[in-house]
Amino acid sequence: MTGMFSRFKKDPFAFLCRAFNKLVVAPFKYRVKGNYDAERYWKDRFTRYGLSLKGVGDEGISDAENDTMYQKAGRSFLSLCRQRRVDFPTARILEIGCGNGFYANLLAEQGVRHYVGIDITDVFFPELRRRHPSFQFSRLDITSDGLRGEFDLILMIDVIEHITSDTGLQAAFDNVKNCLAQNGIFLVAPVPEKGKRSLFYVRFWSLSEIMRHFTDFDVVASVPFRYNRMLAVRKP
Ligand SMILES: C[S@@+](CC[C@H](N)C(=O)[O-])C[C@H]1O[C@@H](n2cnc3c(N)ncnc32)[C@H](O)[C@@H]1O
Repeated sequence: MTGMFSRFKKDPFAFLCRAFNKLVVAPFKYRVKGNYDAERYWKDRFTRYGLSLKGVGDEGISDAENDTMYQKAGRSFLSLCRQRRVDFPTARILEIGCGNGFYANLLAEQGVRHYVGIDITDVFFPELRRRHPSFQFSRLDITSDGLRGEFDLILMIDVIEHITSDTGLQAAFDNVKNCLAQNGIFLVAPVPEKGKRSLFYVRFWSLSEIMRHFTDFDVVASVPFRYNRMLAVRKP
């Protein structure tokens, strides 16, 4: 990811407009009682960017830079799945926050047959259903709705940092634990060393804050993911 200074140098006007929007306009529009209206925020953002990776990725960099970042993230994901010997054709897979389907596409290429993608907004569902007719897509808020089903692999990539409250995180992880099969793997990223709140819709959760919810789980793999880690924990 490009640093703040180089982004500013590249296009100072665009940088300042984005900063003003993220720090003043958008919080005013989406903030609700210390949290934010995630459904509205993501719906508006996806409607603005369409299928461009700027919608799910980084708005401050180009499509090509987002593509490079995503290709790298995809390799981290597949390397972790390989380490855990995920059997793609038979595994029952749930993706939390499937966005515009980057990981759904990757999983389809690996021969996955049993895939459920959930997201707080259904903006991309018509396109995702067209691309992957045998996959299932449901609109669901992981922090307040109950999840159903049993899965061998649950992935939640670039979603955890958009859960900004302790209660939201607790509810999301309760859903994960309830739906994971015995010996099932939960894969989550980004996992930084230190947690912090950065923007109205971004709250990074540290490794220890995450592991507090998974005391009886084993950490079975960890690979680099941008500046942080991608983690896999196994249900005993
Ligand atoms: C940064 S995007 C990442 C999308 C995708 N995982 C990827 O890596 O390309 C965050 C995604 O999480 C979804 N999301 C945010 N909060 C959610 C919630 N509470 N429940 C379900 N999905 C949520 C958003 O709609 C969006 O698709």
